[in-house]
Formats: sequence, C-alpha cells, structure tokens
Amino acid sequence: MPREPMIAPSLLSADFAHLAEETQRVADADWLHVDVMDAHFVPNLTLGLPVVEAIQAVSPIPLDCHLMIENPERWAPGYAEIGARNVTVHAEACTDPRAVARDIRAAGALAGLAIKPGTPLEQYLDVLPDYDTLLVMSVEPGFGGQSFIPGVLSKVRAARRLVDTGHLTLLVEIDGGINADTIAQAAEAGVDMFVAGSAVYGAEDPAKAIAALRAQAAAAISG
Ligand code: DX5
Ligand code: ZN
Repeated sequence: MPREPMIAPSLLSADFAHLAEETQRVADADWLHVDVMDAHFVPNLTLGLPVVEAIQAVSPIPLDCHLMIENPERWAPGYAEIGARNVTVHAEACTDPRAVARDIRAAGALAGLAIKPGTPLEQYLDVLPDYDTLLVMSVEPGFGGQSFIPGVLSKVRAARRLVDTGHLTLLVEIDGGINADTIAQAAEAGVDMFVAGSAVYGAEDPAKAIAALRAQAAAAISG
C-alpha cells in the first residue's frame, strides 16, 4: 500500500483576528497544526489552552497541537482533554518523555515527540514505542516562514526505516519550510504528515495550495 501524504496547515501563518474563518479555509486538510509557544522554550509567544479550546470548538478538522513550551508535563494532558487529536511535546523540554506520552494517551489523544534540527534521533529511540507521532523539525522552532534545513531528512529516513521494518509504529511528521520547492524531497525521505504554514495561508487559495502540496508529495512517493 503506498503511503497517502497528509497535510497539516499551520495556523501560525493565519489571520489571528479571524481564527474561526481561517479554520474553515483549510477544511480539506488532514489536521490543523496549532503552534503553542511560551516565550521560554522558544523566543516567541503565541496562544495557550483557552484559545486552543475555542479553536477546537469550531475547527472542521482534528487539531495537531505542537507545544513549544517548558514543563510540558504540566500542560500537555490539558490539550488532550479538550479534544485535540494529537499532542506533541518537545523531547528537549521533557524530563521524563515516557511519562508525558502516557499522560497524553490517558487523556485521549495521540502522543507526539518533536525533535529540533540539532537533536539526534538515536537519543530517543527507546522512548518512541510510547509515542504515536514523531515530529522532525526542519527549522529552528519559534517562527514561520523560515528556510527548510535538508540535513534533517537523514532522521526522517531513519524513522521511516524503523517503521517500515516493523520496529516502531509512528506517523512521521515534518515541520518547517515545507512548500512547493521542498515537499518532494521530504516525501521521498518518508514523511507521512507535512506541516505547512506560509505555503498554505500565504497562498491566494489555501484549499488549492493544500491539494497541490498533496499531489506533489504523492507524485514524489510513487515516482
Ligand atoms: C515553527 C512552527 C511551524 C511553523 C511552520 O516553530 O512549529 O509549525 O508554523 O511555518 P512554515 O511552514 O511557514 O515554515
Ligand atoms: Zn509547528
């Protein structure tokens, strides 16, 4: 069975004054990626649980919460409790990544582990069986609109091999700088879920941009 590429538009590039309408503009996507930043783990500050809960209430598609925050142990289960489909924490911010995954799953969501561009995958291989998604960051977390770092694709390839050989059951997700110029190489390396912020919300027609990205990824996998 060929892999079906999935697209998760990042709300970070949307118009924050019209969040409900902005979720409707990407209703054809697979997940809606929501970047939670605390101005400590990353320099930027975005939104937190009350706003994400309001987005959850109106979103036509499941939420994919990417927590770029310190002390994810304290906050991650709350995002699962309000109904997010997937809750991703940063490996670099966790003291006990296994326990966080357990708590997220117990609260009813898929558990995701994110790694920054400079973080080796090997360091976390033993905790990945407790996770459902692996988010490979292809920019330094904190801001949209940055350039894709191709060097992270070796981690995608390694994760893909582990999944395809039955050693892990994981959705492989990539985040940062994904657009028409970069999605093919990420798809070839083995990504399942592509986060795209500026490439979707910066387009005149976000629905068209989603379809085009999906088609490009599918072509790269089959070709
Ligand atoms: C960056 C965020 C990304 C961001 C991606 O820290 O995690 O989700 O929105 O934006 P683009 O696709 O514009 O690089
Ligand atoms: Zn993100």
